[in-house]
Amino acid sequence: MSYQIAIDGPAGAGKSTVARRVAKEKGFIYVDTGAMYRAMAYYLLTRKIDPADGEAIEKSCIDADITIQYENGEQVVLLNGENVNGMIRSEEVGNMASISSKNPRVRERLTHLQKELAKSNDVVMDGRDIGTCVLPDADVKVYLTASAGVRAKRRFHELTAKGERCDIKKIEEDIITRDKQDMNREIAPLRQAEDAVLLDASDMSIDEVVSAILELCR
Ligand code: DC
Repeated sequence: MSYQIAIDGPAGAGKSTVARRVAKEKGFIYVDTGAMYRAMAYYLLTRKIDPADGEAIEKSCIDADITIQYENGEQVVLLNGENVNGMIRSEEVGNMASISSKNPRVRERLTHLQKELAKSNDVVMDGRDIGTCVLPDADVKVYLTASAGVRAKRRFHELTAKGERCDIKKIEEDIITRDKQDMNREIAPLRQAEDAVLLDASDMSIDEVVSAILELCR
């Protein structure tokens, strides 16, 4: 049996940084499920699909073949065979992913792939529904959160460090909108699994969060 560490939580809580570090410490693969939803959203945006048109999303998503592979330990997302890692990190794609991930057909396709990956590999997987739906029997489940203000500040620093101009108020508004969408959708909403450990990282460093998760694996 593979060993499974599930990390769920809202946008910007630091899940991917922490998950990547934990995976490295344990020698597991890191599966960033948000990147898969982002690749699907990117595909829909390039096809100019209206985010409000559920039927069009459902039809169009069938033509998006999303797979992942690993290069030097880093996850590469392939969309119809093309590496899209460099295309999926914008706010536009993130906001579209939050909308298109509500669609049952989109979830069905990506959840299947995630379950398969965890069957044959020891994984640290992060997302919104990992502990509740994708890996309900995970060995360790964590719900990682932080206040919307702290998350917005971190995102603002990340973007300005990359030289992007942005408005911290708008970032916080987007974060709150995405939280609402992700928590209130019908299928696989973001919520803490009953058996997940809650970590509020508002006042914790990345090192402290990583150590807390490694401790849970003992
Ligand atoms: O973690 P992220 O910001 O890259 O995720 C982008 C969007 O994808 C997020 O707002 C909701 C969706 N998502 C999801 O529905 N289920 C997951 N397991 C991961 C992400």
